[in-house]
Amino acid sequence: MLSLKFCSRLHSLPINRKPHFAFSDTTLKSLSNANVLLLLSRLSSASSCTATATAMSFQQTQNFSASSNSTSLPILEDSPLPGLESDLVGYVFGKKKATEVAHLVWKHVVQKGDAVVDATCGNGYDTLAMLKLVADESCTGRVYGLDVQEEALVNTSSLLDETVNQAEKQLVKLFNICHSKIEEVVPKDTFVRLVAFNLGYLPGGDKTVITKSETTLLALEAAERILIQGGLISMVVYVGHPGGREELETVEAFSSRLPVDQWICCKFQMLNRPLAPVLVFLFKR
Ligand SMILES: C[S@@+](CC[C@H](N)C(=O)[O-])C[C@H]1O[C@@H](n2cnc3c(N)ncnc32)[C@H](O)[C@@H]1O
Repeated sequence: MLSLKFCSRLHSLPINRKPHFAFSDTTLKSLSNANVLLLLSRLSSASSCTATATAMSFQQTQNFSASSNSTSLPILEDSPLPGLESDLVGYVFGKKKATEVAHLVWKHVVQKGDAVVDATCGNGYDTLAMLKLVADESCTGRVYGLDVQEEALVNTSSLLDETVNQAEKQLVKLFNICHSKIEEVVPKDTFVRLVAFNLGYLPGGDKTVITKSETTLLALEAAERILIQGGLISMVVYVGHPGGREELETVEAFSSRLPVDQWICCKFQMLNRPLAPVLVFLFKR
């Protein structure tokens, strides 16, 4: 089952930016549970999936005063994220990985020339995806990549050597440092559009070196401070390893505390796949 949980009221984000994950109030009011189920049902049949919409749930933590008699589906026609619905449904039905969906969401937020932060470089796949989004001819884009393991930074650097040219690679700044210290490596007054976390341990590496709730929370607080309006904190949270569930709870508690008038916070969680990664997106209005 899918749980799409909104922690704050959705509004259109600033119009001086590229389209964001934003819904109008009208759209929201028409998003009754029945509508969401119908929407997912349509999307699932469009993708030839046999799963039924009744296997999904939609949770709202705010009272959107959804109109119970509405049968329209404006999100299908009006979505500001064309194409993303099918990607999300792809995740629901196991056709897309959580990291792929995260990358697709970033595309709707990040622009060429932006500064972004990969808070957990690992093997460099997220760093590479970010670089592709920000790299432009003026060379103003920046990717700040952090990891506590030297091995991870070596892997990231090697991946970049194999996949991008040296001019592009120069836009990536790698730091062997805990992400709770983001503000020590990202220059003051940098307009950061995206801070991404892919939590847990280094795939193929030492599984005892994992992200920890305490430092993840400090990093989230730092990310909150450095992010510009219209920016995004993106998280892929793994719950299958020791400490993973506690870390998810920390992420949820942090997200739920963010003020409704400044943040849109949501998570995607497969309810009957308890070990599936959880996606959390925090959009700064
Ligand atoms: C799941 S991996 C990241 C995967 C990576 N983004 C990729 O695309 O391959 C998690 C990474 O977080 C790193 N890590 C653990 N604790 C950290 C911390 N406090 N600060 C920064 N990185 C940390 C680990 O060393 C590991 O490489």
